[in-house]
Amino acid sequence: MIYADGRLFLLQTANTSYMFRKLESGHMEHLHFGASLFSKDKYEKMRKELDLEAADKELLAKIEKAIAPKHYSGGGNMNNYSDEHSICLELMGLEMSSFGKGDIREPMVELTYADGNTTVDFIYYDYEVKDGKRALETLPSSYDDTNKAQQLIIKLSDKEYATRLDLIYTVFPDCDVITRSAVLYNDSDNPVRIDRLLSASVDFYETGLLFTSFHGRWAYEMQKRSSLCKAGKVVCEELAAGESGSRSNPFVIVSAEDTTEDSGECCGFNLIYSGNHYEALSSNGSSISRFVTGIQPAGFCWTLSKGESLEAPEAVMAYSKEGFNGMSRNMHRFVRKHVVRGTWRDKERPILINSWEANYFNFTQGSLLSLAKEAKNCGIELFVMDDGWFGRRDDDKSSLGDWYPNTKKLPHGVNGLSEKIHDIGLKFGIWVEPEMISEDSDLYRAHPDWAMRIPGKPHSPGRNQMILDLANPEVCDHIITVLSDLFETGGIDYVKWDMNRNESDVYSPYLPPLRQGETSYRYMTGLYRILSALTEKFPDILFEGCASGGNRFDLGMLCYFSQIWGSDDTDASERVDIQTGYSYAYPPVTVSSHVSSVPNQQTLRVTPRETRFNVAAFANLGYECNLCDMDQATLDEVKKQVLLYKEWRSIFQNGRFYRGETVDNGNVVTWNVVSADGSASAGMMFRRLVVANDQRGVLKMHGLEGDKKYRFYSLPFKMDVRLFGDLINMISPVHVKNGSMIHDIISRFVKLDGEHEDTVTFGDALDLAGVELSPAYSSTGFNERTRVFPDFASRLYFAQKL
Ligand code: DGJ
Repeated sequence: MIYADGRLFLLQTANTSYMFRKLESGHMEHLHFGASLFSKDKYEKMRKELDLEAADKELLAKIEKAIAPKHYSGGGNMNNYSDEHSICLELMGLEMSSFGKGDIREPMVELTYADGNTTVDFIYYDYEVKDGKRALETLPSSYDDTNKAQQLIIKLSDKEYATRLDLIYTVFPDCDVITRSAVLYNDSDNPVRIDRLLSASVDFYETGLLFTSFHGRWAYEMQKRSSLCKAGKVVCEELAAGESGSRSNPFVIVSAEDTTEDSGECCGFNLIYSGNHYEALSSNGSSISRFVTGIQPAGFCWTLSKGESLEAPEAVMAYSKEGFNGMSRNMHRFVRKHVVRGTWRDKERPILINSWEANYFNFTQGSLLSLAKEAKNCGIELFVMDDGWFGRRDDDKSSLGDWYPNTKKLPHGVNGLSEKIHDIGLKFGIWVEPEMISEDSDLYRAHPDWAMRIPGKPHSPGRNQMILDLANPEVCDHIITVLSDLFETGGIDYVKWDMNRNESDVYSPYLPPLRQGETSYRYMTGLYRILSALTEKFPDILFEGCASGGNRFDLGMLCYFSQIWGSDDTDASERVDIQTGYSYAYPPVTVSSHVSSVPNQQTLRVTPRETRFNVAAFANLGYECNLCDMDQATLDEVKKQVLLYKEWRSIFQNGRFYRGETVDNGNVVTWNVVSADGSASAGMMFRRLVVANDQRGVLKMHGLEGDKKYRFYSLPFKMDVRLFGDLINMISPVHVKNGSMIHDIISRFVKLDGEHEDTVTFGDALDLAGVELSPAYSSTGFNERTRVFPDFASRLYFAQKL
């Protein structure tokens, strides 16, 4: 619901209020973003009325009066806005911030006018309220097909210079989300240089807030880090990588210091953009904190000529007073229904086998088909041929740009292979990396000026490849044509779109020298144009994003790709942390996760097969290992896993996701997902390292119906006696040497029953008390009720409403 009367503005959802007002000076004063200022009944009543009754308007005015900060003069060395309006902008909460008229905190907009002046003063002149959600014109943005979203556009102008700024707010009541973006217009005859155009600036009337962001590096994505901002500035940013990378995801949380997973206030912010970004929380330590988010200003500058406009990406804001889990659930709903789109939005995602960790570059059509047949036997549904199928690509040194088949590997071309895969009964997917060009490629030999590099200067290498200059429309058109042809003729059901290096030597041979500061932003809009053309042309293809794993895992990409490969790290123990990190902002159905072989190829760690599956099951499941090398017993296990996943797939992929509070500094991690109707849940307990004589274990499941009864159970399973090493001699009539052939033979015939949970409890009890699990193994005391949890063990648990 939006209330607007030209002076007071309220954006309201069931649980969130965002309020601001116009001051006499024309500045927009921020009043509140957080918990609802109204009762649920009042909200429902106001929502239904187009024009508020006088009594409701009066109530609104009273609430405004109650929460609005009092204005006082700054004193000392502070500046007032004008003689007429003696307000001190530095002391106020503002919807839009800029330098020059008293506000000297983090700005949202920085411009340099033609006369060299950098003072910017945007003042209110109008507003508009519209039903529905309009898309941004040059950037991907959220959408609404529920007819519930509403937009408020606040129109500001800097009269001294004939520039205008629209602040665009959208309310998504079904998921307690509000978004913001901004558009700058130049109506003057002179060009304006934009040095910074952020998407949102939100002031909080308190300091000492916690700023949580997600960082890492290749194969170590989404590690959660928090810093308290009592004064000064905490920043999350991608400065110059050219992509929203694994180093810093654009999603951040501003919260109270003591907010937990299930209680306390927090605001999640994300950006629908995939390039360099900037999120910062700052405070002068007195009484206000300012949060800003948007395109990274460093290295960015844009010349806006007469009659032109520039859009800032859409920023997504989700408040919750039910802790981080509450905020995440709002974000998840928003991403699933208002960001991800098209044929695959609500469809269950297929279980895939990917050839990368099975074969790398070393494959033939025959070896791919053997892998596909084994995959089919296991119940897998989609075969993905990864890197190495095109040009002369036998390693990563050549051929990017030459998107035609390597006929030595694929004698009958892509289509020939795809037909055979379809005959086996699997869908067929292909890997591409279209934004790149190898120096050793036909494309580079034909178009050296299409690479992003500084002509005549040395170029810094990254995975032996260069980035194509997508600021050049001709390059984008070429990619659209070549890939359209591949997708049309290749019999392709799925595309893995990879991108494997950061920007260096940022320079567009296409742009004039004075516009080089626009290169990275134009690269992104060029890429978005390509993705939009291809996804519209091939609506049934399932597109999966990837950028050396989970770089560029962001909402911009999710407007085109229904899912993204979470990390090149397939080690299950590391994946627990990586997927926990993603879960703060992104729903499980957007994350892809694969079971791979052990020792793991990134860490050489050996984790149990069940754990590799259990972790991958809380996402889009895939296998990335050579099934042809597995013995029958292992393949039978894989079959069982695939069957179980299919049975629970809709909940694993699209259920409501809950993180349990972690125990022992992350040594024990629990997750659970709940069906939309609350009738069923799947949960997991993972324990990283064994702690001696730590027998107690409790599994809680959140989000079920409190007063309904559930059957809580685990699945029966058998254990290998070799797990117990020498201890076999405690029961064996003859001495068995640990690791001997006899030990192996016994293990084939003697299997031990694993512990089995099966009980009944209420939803509320599961949520608050949990279920006391069988005691964990401790020293030699073992029976069939012992929960054997060696290092990196995990268990799945299920709840079904009775
Ligand atoms: C990086 C990706 O993340 C991997 O999964 C794989 O596709 C390789 N690229 C192929 O070069």
